[in-house]
Amino acid sequence: MAAKTIKVEIKRQSGPDGAATVEKFEIPYRPNMNITSLLGEIACDPVTVEGKATTPITYDSNCLEEICGSCAMLINGKAKMACSALVDKLNGDGSGTITLAPLSKFPVVRDLSVDRSVLFQNLKAVKAWVPIDGTYDLGSGPRQFPQLQEELYPLSNCISCTICMEVCPQFNDSTNFVGAATIAQVKLFNNNPTGAVLKAERLRALAGDGGVQECGFAQNCVEACPKQLPLTEAISDVSRDVMFQQVKDFFVR
Ligand code: SF4
Ligand code: FES
Repeated sequence: MAAKTIKVEIKRQSGPDGAATVEKFEIPYRPNMNITSLLGEIACDPVTVEGKATTPITYDSNCLEEICGSCAMLINGKAKMACSALVDKLNGDGSGTITLAPLSKFPVVRDLSVDRSVLFQNLKAVKAWVPIDGTYDLGSGPRQFPQLQEELYPLSNCISCTICMEVCPQFNDSTNFVGAATIAQVKLFNNNPTGAVLKAERLRALAGDGGVQECGFAQNCVEACPKQLPLTEAISDVSRDVMFQQVKDFFVR
């Protein structure tokens, strides 16, 4: 009996302006492989099914445990993390072909690696941090009610993978929508007793072009988020706060 193999089709691109091509590989099956280890196997011997020697696939990866957020890609057409996508689960009995492609809404750097810096620009625009002076010991921070801690903790689990942006129909060039991850971080930092000092600025940043009003409530983000962030709840809470801020600003002009 022929040894079991895994068939993979990978969309490749040599650089941001290169033409996209597809290369096919067939590699020996091992139980419990994830997509990252499969890409590692190809790197050890980058030869296509046609026997053509090629270059190893470029992809991002770091923690290998769904923490760093770097390895998001399209796996069988769906945005997933390569390190937690198990070949056995994707491939059923092993007879199917696994397709890999870069996220479609971000500029390709090379092969499966994309430039996701737009998320970090968006986080910067809404000041997604707690402004503290770290030059001396501030002692323990202000107390938080356990109920609030419980509500906010899931929002701190965001790994900046950008999957919520990839799957959002509103995240495109015509809306400039900042995306669910940024809005969730606004809720997190606005409800932090120290972070709240920048609350009005954050809400104003989400009131204009590309702000929270661009959300079309498709709810794809909450379905796809690998860390199960309560994104739709965060969007509706921040939406309400943005509206209150606009009313407040209108009367104090
Ligand atoms: S909210 Fe979820 S899907 Fe979006 S970047 Fe954070 S972890 Fe990824
Ligand atoms: S390698 Fe860090 S999330 Fe996948």
